[in-house]
Amino acid sequence: TLARLTDLLGPAVADHRGVGAFNVFSIEHAEAHVAGAERAGIPVVLQISENAVKYHHGLEPIALATLSIARSASVPVVVHLDHATDDELVDQAIGLRFGEMGFGSVMYDASGLDYDANVAATAAVVARGHAAGLDVEAELGEVGGKDGVHAPGARTDPADAARFVAATSVDALAVAVGSSHAMTTRTARLDLELITALRDAVGVPLVLHGSSGVPDDEIVRAVAAGMTKVNIATHLNVVFTGVVRDLLTGDPKLADSRKYLGPARDAVAAEVARLLGVLAGR
Ligand code: G3H
Ligand code: ZN
Repeated sequence: TLARLTDLLGPAVADHRGVGAFNVFSIEHAEAHVAGAERAGIPVVLQISENAVKYHHGLEPIALATLSIARSASVPVVVHLDHATDDELVDQAIGLRFGEMGFGSVMYDASGLDYDANVAATAAVVARGHAAGLDVEAELGEVGGKDGVHAPGARTDPADAARFVAATSVDALAVAVGSSHAMTTRTARLDLELITALRDAVGVPLVLHGSSGVPDDEIVRAVAAGMTKVNIATHLNVVFTGVVRDLLTGDPKLADSRKYLGPARDAVAAEVARLLGVLAGR
């Protein structure tokens, strides 16, 4: 069933659990993430980034497929717009309805703007999102790496974060605590004391971006310190592509794409089920 982001994050904060948010690049990823969540019996967030929308030449093809897969899931699933910078795309996601429900949340990423401009742009999106009945995530302190440059040095100031949340009414806040996007090795260390300071200062759930580079044990410590939504994209691509590469290398005559995409999807589903268990403290 489709859910709103706060439906998942609220109980998770109360129980000190993490919520897995996994990116959807193609239909196989949406199928894998839902299969993994069903196997674990744990709700999940399926996120479609602005870059994934560009890849599919528009929101609808990938969003309607993802919403369809999510709606028939046996566990609650949030379909979320990730790293949106384009106001038109945000409004398209807010307006897209799939039966009763559509997107459960959008992330508006104005983290590249200065503080005042970030507040103004984010508050406007929050007003539109809340009016339409969905939740909004924003980012303060830029988590680097999206341009391919590993940049783990960025940090979010707790006092700024508290002011930002009060000024914008966002429902969840992405913060910079030592992770970096698009890492293909899981070797990052986080500023756990800063996570706790942010949790104590900020009244909304915190979001860890770039979690692919963070090993399981450090993710567990981050959740214990106060992180709630944990975004993982690249790591699941590593799993997916590893299977495809092995199968194609092992059988140069292989032509039916289902014969390598299917096993890759199965491997991602297994890893999603495992990660959701780690995040839930099992
Ligand atoms: O918003 C998406 C995430 O922050 C994913 O980052 O590819 O480094 O796991 P990642
Ligand atoms: Zn991110």
